[in-house]
Amino acid sequence: MTNLIPPAAPLSDSFGRVHNNLRVSVTDRCNLRCTYCMPEDVTFLPKDDLLTFEEIAALVRVAVPLGVDKVRLTGGEPLLRRDLPTLVAMLRDIPGLHDIGLTTNGLLLAKQSDALVKAGLRRVNVSLDTLDPGRFRELTRRDGVEQVVEGLLAAKRAGFERIKVNAVAIRGFIEHDLAPLAHFCRGHGFELRLIEYMPIGAESWERDKVVPAHELLERLEAEVAPLSPASDYDPAAPAMDFAYADTGAKLGIIASVSRPFCDRCNRLRVTADGKLRNCLFALDELDIKPLLRPATRPDELAAALRANIGAKWAGHRFNDADFVKPTRTMHSIGG
Ligand code: 5AD
Ligand code: SF4
Repeated sequence: MTNLIPPAAPLSDSFGRVHNNLRVSVTDRCNLRCTYCMPEDVTFLPKDDLLTFEEIAALVRVAVPLGVDKVRLTGGEPLLRRDLPTLVAMLRDIPGLHDIGLTTNGLLLAKQSDALVKAGLRRVNVSLDTLDPGRFRELTRRDGVEQVVEGLLAAKRAGFERIKVNAVAIRGFIEHDLAPLAHFCRGHGFELRLIEYMPIGAESWERDKVVPAHELLERLEAEVAPLSPASDYDPAAPAMDFAYADTGAKLGIIASVSRPFCDRCNRLRVTADGKLRNCLFALDELDIKPLLRPATRPDELAAALRANIGAKWAGHRFNDADFVKPTRTMHSIGG
């Protein structure tokens, strides 16, 4: 028998952008203090304010029929959330959800890789800006570069299908770290993704500290190996995908500043305490916890998702003079 129930209209905004990509922050805590993300002293949310795994799964169950087919778990540092593999397994069982990813700083990845793969996670992005212990400490205000590298190697052994390494490109740092990071990733089969430094959570963001995509490319070609656009290069995708001419290995550049991709944005976010944010840079958010607690109210949740996406603006305005930085810092939004 054919299914006569018409599919729900997708989550589209007033600019016609369809949203299928939900980023869920599972905690605002972190075991690093990256200078570009958060201050050294920060008050974290009380535990009771965090959405429970059941509440997160309930939200995803409402979002999937509205067209969400990708979920990324983020933080803070998501591996600090106890029993994260349990959440992965709960999400894996939701029909229609095709892709579950995780963005982590990698410190706890060596311990948790096997359990995460067993729970059904296939893709992981690990943030690592430098392989140099001194610069790692300068950037993250903590030690741990060896632990992150161990985490990456453990993830590879555990059998993740695709492992990406995210590096924020900040002038004064990336010039030293680009070639070592690129060689490390090439050698181990990790996909390096360079992210232009954005004015979010960073106290001291200055445009001069942004190393634009074209400069990153020039440096990579001069210091590592020639690159060409990847065969599946998609001008509409946030990451500009390249491939090394010699090995064919891929590398991505996320040029949020020099080449904003807001007009193709398909993302929505929920913070660890249940606030919907339709943009990383949104100044407003919508509290959905009352629609999940004490019990799920699916119709109202669906309406809240639609309302939040419907109100989405055209894009971040950090290239404009009247740009207002959100008061939330990155760790409490979810990257
Ligand atoms: N600019 C660019 N990327 C950032 N991230 C955190 N803060 C910034 C910033 N100011 C990145 C982290 C991580 C991802 C979640 O977001 O490095 O890879
Ligand atoms: Fe933690 Fe990631 Fe922020 Fe660094 S960027 S402090 S690892 S949440």
